[in-house]
Amino acid sequence: MQEPLLFSGNASRELASEVAARMRTRLGNALVDKFRNDECRVEIKENVRGAEIFVFQSLSRAPGGNSVNDSLVELLLMIDAMRRASAYRITAVVPYYGYAKQDKKTKGREPISAKLVANMIAAAGARRVVTLDLHAAQIQGFFDLPVDNLEAAPTLCSYLGQQGLKGNKVVVVSPDAGGVPRAEKIAKRLRSTLAIVFKRRPEPDVSEVTEIVGHVDGRVAVVVDDMISTGGTLAKAAEALKARGATQVYCCATHGIFAGDAIRVLNDSPIERVVVTNTIPNENLPPKFRVLSIAQILADAIRRITSNKSVSELFERLDAEEQAAAENTETAVPVLATAP
Ligand code: R5P
Repeated sequence: MQEPLLFSGNASRELASEVAARMRTRLGNALVDKFRNDECRVEIKENVRGAEIFVFQSLSRAPGGNSVNDSLVELLLMIDAMRRASAYRITAVVPYYGYAKQDKKTKGREPISAKLVANMIAAAGARRVVTLDLHAAQIQGFFDLPVDNLEAAPTLCSYLGQQGLKGNKVVVVSPDAGGVPRAEKIAKRLRSTLAIVFKRRPEPDVSEVTEIVGHVDGRVAVVVDDMISTGGTLAKAAEALKARGATQVYCCATHGIFAGDAIRVLNDSPIERVVVTNTIPNENLPPKFRVLSIAQILADAIRRITSNKSVSELFERLDAEEQAAAENTETAVPVLATAP
């Protein structure tokens, strides 16, 4: 078995370091910087010949002000550098796969950005992709490479269970029709009922609630989504749920993008708590926000990939552990940002 070497671009350095620590290894040494003309500059500072490489990079903004586009180019350049340095196999670990919203043509003269990004990652030299909660699961098919689309649901559900948010006092809510399968799975895990918010987008990044299906009156609503961008979807859903008699509204999402003034929008909304994972770096969030770590899931998945073990089995094991934890609330999910 090859001992894996982990590297990271600027968007995922903290998460990658945590994964490395959990794997009792270290992050590889690479310069990931910029030339004065603003082009990304990459130099791998250690030998990778014949090595099993994992390059971490979320396609999101990064600390220090790098944009989503910088993050994408850093990832591509790092993979290219590894390939030219004769790495044995390169896996792109993309905790948040950006450019996923345009995953089909909804009208004429639109790109399919998610497919183009997949082509670029493969052309750069990646032989496998590990990611979490793709915006649409079928994006896996945009790659002719193995894709492990991991789930944050076990981590989110453990947290909700620890907070006592389970059973028939809770209704799990999908904030749109597309999110129903995800919400249904979580409702099943929490042994709760399901409701669906129907939303429409009069223009990009603006959402309006049109209808709610399901009983929310007198229950705690837990709204689950894959990502929070402007926060509009969740803020509007929370207002509508409260108006229909929900006693409290909690919101969970895998990816906390928090674009523009999303943090203010969510903070000023009737939402009790906003829970995200650390697929995207976020600092100084208000007390209403919680960040859960998915480092252990990534570490376990990488260990399984390098030893040719099943990654699905990991989720079967997590399911079993979660069931056991449901009886024992002492088992804690690591929370990175908590209220003072
Ligand atoms: C939509 O299909 C997604 O699952 C999210 O609901 C959406 O991207 C959230 O966007 P925003 O926070 O800007 O409303």
